[in-house]
Amino acid sequence: MTTPVSTEQPGYTRSYLADQHAGQLARLQTLERAFDPLSHRFFERLDLPDAPAILDLGAGAGSLAGWLSQRYPDATVTATDIDTRFLVDIPGIKVMTHNVTTDDFHPASFDVVHARALLCHLREREAILTRAATWVRPGGWLVIEDVSLQPSLRSTNPLFRKVAQAGITLLEQSIGSDMFWADTLPDRLRDRRLCNVDHRTLAGRIGDDSPADTFWAATTTQAAPSLLKLGLLTQHDLDRMASLRADPAFTDTALAFVSAWGQVP
Ligand SMILES: C[S@@+](CC[C@H](N)C(=O)[O-])C[C@H]1O[C@@H](n2cnc3c(N)ncnc32)[C@H](O)[C@@H]1O
Repeated sequence: MTTPVSTEQPGYTRSYLADQHAGQLARLQTLERAFDPLSHRFFERLDLPDAPAILDLGAGAGSLAGWLSQRYPDATVTATDIDTRFLVDIPGIKVMTHNVTTDDFHPASFDVVHARALLCHLREREAILTRAATWVRPGGWLVIEDVSLQPSLRSTNPLFRKVAQAGITLLEQSIGSDMFWADTLPDRLRDRRLCNVDHRTLAGRIGDDSPADTFWAATTTQAAPSLLKLGLLTQHDLDRMASLRADPAFTDTALAFVSAWGQVP
């Protein structure tokens, strides 16, 4: 049971994760370095028809959209976001301002619709998933990738568990994120009657200088003022956590990157 930490309307755009933060581009790039290898693994095996239409929703800083345009040179890759500021200088992609919560596409417009680290943060995730499936052509793929923070709550280290729980509470209450939704993705895709549903998970650790560790640290640093302001953690907690992370004897599983896909019949 958690107590409300904010009376403001929750949402990504006003949150500590949003793009107005000075460090946001660098933070998004840490996410890309951690998540891209898993995303590439799916697309490296995927055969698409000639001149496929690919949609990347909430494309962020655009590393995956740029990579997709190279992987499928004859594709039209459309990268959308509510804030397209970082989607510049990426050859081969079409950039569109689009709010996935309220804006639509015509049915059966794309051979692939992809969203990564997006739906877990949007309260309307179930309705968006249903709508996104309608944007895929028969035979095409819906590919949803998200982050689960479930592994961090299984840590045997009480300080890390406390910091992780504070982060999850902040995400839930200031944004509306569900940081366990990723664990249910295959079922969510089957619910939409997709076929050939499958998934892969990549564990991300902290304390080992890995890309996941860097992403975790960048996000915690960006969240720190909100965690302190809302009384979820003290500066002492954050200092002790920084020391723990730097301790060569400490490493732990912090999160899971989940990649799930299904084909529209
Ligand atoms: C955590 S970032 C992930 C970026 C990218 N998909 C990646 O994995 O590298 C979430 C992105 O979703 C965008 N976003 C948030 N709410 C959105 C909405 N309602 N419609 C479209 N994009 C949104 C944010 O601006 C941000 O770029």
